[in-house]
Amino acid sequence: MCFKKGLNHLVKFKMKIKILGLFGSPRRGGNTDLLLEEVLKGAQSQGAEIERIFLSQLNISPCQECRKCEIFGNCVINDEMQDIYPKLTKANFIILASPIFFYNVTAQTKILIDRCQALWARKYILKQRPLNKETLNRKGWFISVGATKGDNLFKGVILTVKYFFDAVDVEYSGELLFRKIDEKEAIKKHSTALKEAFYMGRQLIGEEKKDLNSDSANC
Ligand SMILES: Cc1cc2nc3c(=O)[nH]c(=O)nc-3n(C[C@H](O)[C@H](O)[C@H](O)COP(=O)(O)O)c2cc1C
Repeated sequence: MCFKKGLNHLVKFKMKIKILGLFGSPRRGGNTDLLLEEVLKGAQSQGAEIERIFLSQLNISPCQECRKCEIFGNCVINDEMQDIYPKLTKANFIILASPIFFYNVTAQTKILIDRCQALWARKYILKQRPLNKETLNRKGWFISVGATKGDNLFKGVILTVKYFFDAVDVEYSGELLFRKIDEKEAIKKHSTALKEAFYMGRQLIGEEKKDLNSDSANC
């Protein structure tokens, strides 16, 4: 048998690709919510299994830097984050959407990211790799918008998101970024954004199928 380990085996055996959508904006129905929803709809149209988490609805504390995760590999704060850890380690695809707040993700998103220090500790201090033995080569996409248009708008946030994805063992493999988007639903006036988002979601599974075919051809 010859095929790359990763999402391809899911496609090959017709298993559903699990996508976790993280909605990071506190403004429900705002620009990043609309974009992420379109990506998820596109992926769902191709048979993906979708789970949505609205970060502003979670009751989670910030990291207290107690460092106990470096010993136990788990976070000792007993709150709703405990339900999120297994979702982060089991999803085949994680799609994070956050608007730019002061050149970074929203506070709601940053709390979740900081709590992933426990997974970072598992991976890099306790060397428990991979975090999920059943699903290798997990991938992550990032969706963002900002009101301004400068070259540096997404520079800082991309670094943050790349290191978040690395901590949860997914590869940063795609992004959808729009400048000059400010008022609620402004993204609807953009000529291509929502279509691009839907198409990107559809492609997500299409690309896996294409990869699989080219692998088979090389076998
Ligand atoms: C607290 C706060 C900070 C913001 N900081 C920035 C910023 O640094 N740069 C920028 O271009 N836009 C900034 N914005 C604008 C938002 O990124 C913009 O309104 C975006 O469209 C909101 O997306 P949403 O509808 O998904 O929440 C900020 C908005 C708020 C409320």
